[in-house]
Amino acid sequence: MPWLYEPINVYKPVAANIGIVDGPFEYLTVAGIRMPLPFTTRMTVVRLRSGDLFLHSPVAFDQSLAEALETMGPVRHLVSPNQFHYAHVGEWAKAFPDAVTWASPGVRGRARARHADVVFARDLGADPPEEWEGDMEQALVPGGIFKEFIFFHGASRTLILTDTIINLELDKIDQPWRAFTKLSGMYHPFGQIFFGMRLPLLVQRRKAKAAIRKIHAWRPERILLSHGRCFEGEDAGKALRRIFGGPPS
Ligand SMILES: [Fe+2]
Repeated sequence: MPWLYEPINVYKPVAANIGIVDGPFEYLTVAGIRMPLPFTTRMTVVRLRSGDLFLHSPVAFDQSLAEALETMGPVRHLVSPNQFHYAHVGEWAKAFPDAVTWASPGVRGRARARHADVVFARDLGADPPEEWEGDMEQALVPGGIFKEFIFFHGASRTLILTDTIINLELDKIDQPWRAFTKLSGMYHPFGQIFFGMRLPLLVQRRKAKAAIRKIHAWRPERILLSHGRCFEGEDAGKALRRIFGGPPS
């Protein structure tokens, strides 16, 4: 059986005012059909200076998790960082109607096509909005339909990624997916750029360089990922240099 990142649905701090929540299994859906491919996904929670909570790529709604988060601050921002990570934004928005739902490029159309019950109120942009300016910086990594907003929490020097880097642990995956994952190269400790982003990154070289330059300038000391094992300490810098090369000229 595949493994989860237990315990799930609990807030796990990684530094002051930032932590992760590992969620239950998700299943890839192709043309409306649920594939027998369980995978794990992870949410990042940032407590902003305002006291408000920023939920990056929310995992499936869970009542006791929601109650635990409420003790930390008002759940205010529900963020879809790319058009493939939005499935649970609507559930959280229902529970927290005062929260702002943030759209990634293309997510509205994708959610509508799949009849998802979610309304996005605002759009992520090139610069952080005033609500988290001073807490976090952000950038758009080009990648065709896989383009993704990434975030950097300055106080903890944490880079928050969704699918830009995938670092699956093979012993948590069943065959035949384990073999496919190995072929894709997106496995621990060799985590890689999601394969769907690689060609668009090459084609959009100028935009890619700008994003990579920004990532290096931030000098992250931790990389939180939605899928697989995160990178901590000096492993973070090493992974960035291995995957993206040094700062582009
Ligand atoms: Fe993903």
